[in-house]
Amino acid sequence: MKARFLTEVVKVDSDCAKKAAELLNAGEVVVLPTETVYGLAARCDSEAGIRKIFSVKNRPSDNPLILHCDSVEMVNRYAKEPDERLQKLASHFWPGPLTIVVERSKLVSDIVTAGQDTVALRIPDNVFFKEVITLCGVPIAAPSANISGRPSPTDANESLRQLDKMVPLIVDGGSCSVGVESTIIYLSTDGEVLLRPGDISVKQLEKVLGRSLIFKKNELPTAPGMKYRHYAPSCEVVLYCGDDFADFLKDCNGDFGVVCYEEECKHIDSHNVIVFGRAGDEKEQQRRLFGILNSLDERGCDRWYIHTDRAFEAIYNRLYKASQGKIIG
Ligand code: TXA
Ligand code: MG
Repeated sequence: MKARFLTEVVKVDSDCAKKAAELLNAGEVVVLPTETVYGLAARCDSEAGIRKIFSVKNRPSDNPLILHCDSVEMVNRYAKEPDERLQKLASHFWPGPLTIVVERSKLVSDIVTAGQDTVALRIPDNVFFKEVITLCGVPIAAPSANISGRPSPTDANESLRQLDKMVPLIVDGGSCSVGVESTIIYLSTDGEVLLRPGDISVKQLEKVLGRSLIFKKNELPTAPGMKYRHYAPSCEVVLYCGDDFADFLKDCNGDFGVVCYEEECKHIDSHNVIVFGRAGDEKEQQRRLFGILNSLDERGCDRWYIHTDRAFEAIYNRLYKASQGKIIG
């Protein structure tokens, strides 16, 4: 897409909520912070705005968008019928990093859902974002504010780097406290299906629902976006899931960089080392994940070895895609 704007970056305050809402009401797109990742926002009822989301991101038109709401009342207007499971999950996890897919009401347009009968709904845990929704009076559609295929931005700088001159406004709300996109669950008539792992774990969801989630691999329903190559820097990424990372690296040749746990740094003999976080600290590693992936290309190594743990659902899911399935250990 051609450059359209001199992009303005402003820090969160109540004046910029009004400014963001005015741009959205005029059919524009703006970048807003959420607790998960930064989102590229448009009014859900603005065809012009929604079309801009797809063209700015270079997003395939068969990939539906999440609607962000300021209250369960708003959510219920955009879902076809009341669902007890939705109410239960809402009271435990909203506002927060959970997206719920249900059948859609007539208020939801076809371009938002890419023609599907379902809609993805979430109440974000970000006071500023919710204020913008309230000012607009309708849900705000927002995918992650990256160019499709690139890692999602978790701060205003990275949003600017990817979308400079494509959007009029980026609101800077600091670094995202969660750092990976929301967990997505589909409430079907046959059971509850996990479509995307995230900060809210399968275990937490099962505890609230009182039964096991369904995992339907390679079958519908799916989150259409999950089939695309994602989160991928251009350099090669190899995951290491074993113990003794430092020992393993001693036998590796060539020009490579390393993403390791804090405790491992001192045993690793390379000038290209990035610290992922303390070993076992899932939340800290989640927060740092996309910042690290977004920085790999400019650091100049051809290959990166990244230490990770399969038990960290959200992190492993993103890294698996970034590595295109190259895993050792
Ligand atoms: O944390 C998040 O969810 C962030 C912030 C900005 O809220 N948003 C986000 O949106 O990650 P996006 O568009 O990057 O990812 C949404 C995923 C896509 O994989 C899409 O295919 C799926 O949700 N999705 C959306 N609507 C769906 C639907 N009706 N049925 C199944 N999957 C859906
Ligand atoms: Mg995305």
